[in-house]
Amino acid sequence: MLIDNTKFESLSPVERLDIIAQSRNLSDEDKKTVSGDGALSLEKANTMVENCIGTFQLPYSVITNVLIDGKEYFVPVVGEEPYVFHSSCQGAELAAANGGFVSCDTGSIMIGQIQILDVANPQTARLRLLERKTEIMKAANERDPVLVSAGGGCIDVEVRVLSDGKRDMIVTHLLVDACDAMGAQAVNAMTEAVSPLLEAITGGRTAIKVLSNLADKRLVRIRTRIKKEYVGGTSGVDKIVSAYHFAKADPYRATTNNKGIMNGIIPAVIATGNDTRAVEAGAHSYAARSGKYSPLSIWEKNAEGDLEGLLELPMAVGIIGGTTKIHPLAQLSLKILNVGSAIELAKVLATVGMCANLGVLRSLTTVGLFSDFDNQHKRSK
Ligand code: MEV
Repeated sequence: MLIDNTKFESLSPVERLDIIAQSRNLSDEDKKTVSGDGALSLEKANTMVENCIGTFQLPYSVITNVLIDGKEYFVPVVGEEPYVFHSSCQGAELAAANGGFVSCDTGSIMIGQIQILDVANPQTARLRLLERKTEIMKAANERDPVLVSAGGGCIDVEVRVLSDGKRDMIVTHLLVDACDAMGAQAVNAMTEAVSPLLEAITGGRTAIKVLSNLADKRLVRIRTRIKKEYVGGTSGVDKIVSAYHFAKADPYRATTNNKGIMNGIIPAVIATGNDTRAVEAGAHSYAARSGKYSPLSIWEKNAEGDLEGLLELPMAVGIIGGTTKIHPLAQLSLKILNVGSAIELAKVLATVGMCANLGVLRSLTTVGLFSDFDNQHKRSK
């Protein structure tokens, strides 16, 4: 059931929560967790980080009408910037009226890096490491039997020889299926666990051992098609495509475009207790993968003259462990989202980023962002 967003926005927070609660079977206790002051007790907060002296509150909202592969989502979001959630809802509504988003992914594969220095013959050592891949994977997996029993674990090993101009180094990658976890802890532990074996095989010295946030084996891809009549006809389509070409040509615009995408993604990453810095670092690094910082979203006109929008980016998030387990609102966010896997959550996050981008591009190519914000502000008063 799609929501009439103008009506939804005109309701009080309690009325909006009632609609979400009904649709997601939230208990009275759940409702109190959302609307009460301070869902996170000081006691719990103190177990999460060091030097805790209190908690910090921000508005908790929902993006409505997010439709992916035929399933409708309410996406909980936490943030302080006025207008962004309104424009995300506008983008979501527009896409939903056109059938929503189609998604695919590359699985939940994280990369753990082990740097090996002081190897006399690095190219030979590279082959020696590859020859003993099975043994390396076994040593990694022995470190995390829980992940292995959940169907994940180290599934491959890659080895490169790199040079910093002065000396060669070997960089070994453990490819780890993190399943429904973000996987940072498991991957970091595995990189340390295999290090003695890698030193024995190469005769070198392992230095940096940690995961890579360029999670380019944990990609999500989403796309939507918007019929031209929904965006003001051919000229509306052309304006959005032209806005994309501006971002493609100019890193100054690409950065702002991608910030707009993050306006959708990061508030939902916070709401689910995931690591915002990991998602940001991965996204921006991926945006620069060609050597030039580029827009993460692509907008094209198809043969029928309609608008095609797509987004591909790394998304290292989980639905188990870490803050998702501890923070009561993070747990509730997952309940409201109604996602069954980390991959499904990753797709929702990418989609809400694309909704934010679409909503903003519609404003920027029509009345302008400021005027649209001003009108919206007057309407909601
Ligand atoms: C503002 O937070 C984000 C925008 O500037 C994004 C964009 O220009 O695409 C509106």
